[in-house]
Amino acid sequence: MDKKFYITTPIYYPSAKPHMGHAYSSIIADFFARFKMIDDYHVHFLTGTDEHGLKIQRSAEKAGKDPQIFCDHISQTFRDLSDTLNLSNTDFIRTTETRHKKTVQHLWSKLEKNDDIYLSNYSGWYSVSDEAFYNEDEIEKIDGKKIAISSKSSVEWIEEESYFFRLSKWEKPLLNYYEANPDFISPVSRKNEVISFVKSGLKDLSISRKSFSWGIPVPNNQRHVIYVWLDALTNYLSALNYPNTNDDLFKKFWPASIHLIGKDILRFHAVYWPAFLLAAKIDLPKKVYGHGWILSGEEKMSKSRGNILDPLEIIKKYGLDPLRYYLIKEVSFGNDGNISQERLEDCINSDLANNYGNLCQRVTAFAIKNCDGKIPSIIKFQDEDLLILNKFKDNLDNIRSKIDDQNINFYIDYIVNSLFEANKYFNDQEPWKKKDDPIRLNTIVYTTLEIVRKISFLLYPIIPASSLKALKIFDIKENKVKLNTITNNEFLTKGNNLNKIDILFKKIEKNND
Ligand code: ME8
Ligand code: MG
Repeated sequence: MDKKFYITTPIYYPSAKPHMGHAYSSIIADFFARFKMIDDYHVHFLTGTDEHGLKIQRSAEKAGKDPQIFCDHISQTFRDLSDTLNLSNTDFIRTTETRHKKTVQHLWSKLEKNDDIYLSNYSGWYSVSDEAFYNEDEIEKIDGKKIAISSKSSVEWIEEESYFFRLSKWEKPLLNYYEANPDFISPVSRKNEVISFVKSGLKDLSISRKSFSWGIPVPNNQRHVIYVWLDALTNYLSALNYPNTNDDLFKKFWPASIHLIGKDILRFHAVYWPAFLLAAKIDLPKKVYGHGWILSGEEKMSKSRGNILDPLEIIKKYGLDPLRYYLIKEVSFGNDGNISQERLEDCINSDLANNYGNLCQRVTAFAIKNCDGKIPSIIKFQDEDLLILNKFKDNLDNIRSKIDDQNINFYIDYIVNSLFEANKYFNDQEPWKKKDDPIRLNTIVYTTLEIVRKISFLLYPIIPASSLKALKIFDIKENKVKLNTITNNEFLTKGNNLNKIDILFKKIEKNND
């Protein structure tokens, strides 16, 4: 059976350089992609940049640059960040690419043909920062300025001729869809917000603009450009070469397994996007997951608020894997989370250096000294060995299903506990006191090495580079990292040489003065 997994991040606005929030979404998506990869899925992992619209046009003007040149430059910094974050993405899409423009215009024509689009006039509040329309009851006045309540970004009044999408027509079908597919909007806490928004009544949506030009022209009316969200959402299809439905990528990977996004853009993904797809008679993605925000103090970290933490600086100071580990562990997935360097340092010292790094060093050093530098042979495991070894086998299906529920918190707790138990096992078994019982000593060492191997496999989606560095102990290469082998208690080849490795994580000296 062919197992397939298509995961996407939002495509980010290249209006300013990337920040920690963007890094967060991308790292989480990479975690899921890598987990599925080692579980033998064919994985398509898409990220990219969202380059049209008034927000970008204005940013380019402000920088005194042509919008295309402006986007080329900042989009590249997002692409570079993908490399810096060690993302396993299989594609990077830009909405200014021809492949994308063609798909968007095709989708437009299809909606028009199905009578889901009409020309009229729009008047109302618009936030350029969010590229979103707001109803009167969604805005408030602070210090004489009108802002959107949800995002705190300022709104301006616009009035112009515009094409509309018959969103109101899809109210009932959407509600039916949510009911028939209870996992479509996740986590559940966010689902209810969306449902009550839809139940409160959907108005037709303005989907074109006439007052600026930086966008994809409406087919047959070049005076209008397509609304940037209709343009942007379509990236998930254009990356699979839609409308060529015979294309291998489309056949294989559509519908998407999961659109991973921040909760700020849930409405676009859980209301507008499925409505466009229903109208165009295209299958809907299986899931939209809206994660929480990284906060700075009490506020959302965002470019427009200027309270951003630069991921590159953190990586330079602490290294990539500590940041990946920290974000995955400490921001309780689905909820908002504050991040601090203090907690990051604690994570490095306690989990990574003490628990994982130390376990790897200790057992290899011991084996190199006492087992001839080789993976020892064993005759028979004892009950206490099997007790700890078999836990991985017994939990594998549970781990898989927790991942399918995006329960990252379970996954990380499972690993932290396993590390704790592994260290305890090695201490309790006291192999250093078994030098006159080499059979038992070998079995303890073999068992501990197997556990290091299994935990390193589980850590691979979180800290891929460090996990592979640890697996050098056994000469295990990336293509041999397979999840189903954690059920095997004798995966390691007896008699093979063990390699000494450098320290995995340096402890951070804490200055408590
Ligand atoms: O909205 N905490 O792009 P964008 C966590 N182009 N995640 C955060 C975050 C924070 N403080 N700040 C940003 C757009 N993010 C559109 C998307 S998709 C078809 C088009 C992450 O540059 C989070 O994933 O404003 C959020 O949804 C996304 O960046 C918004 O990025
Ligand atoms: Mg934003």
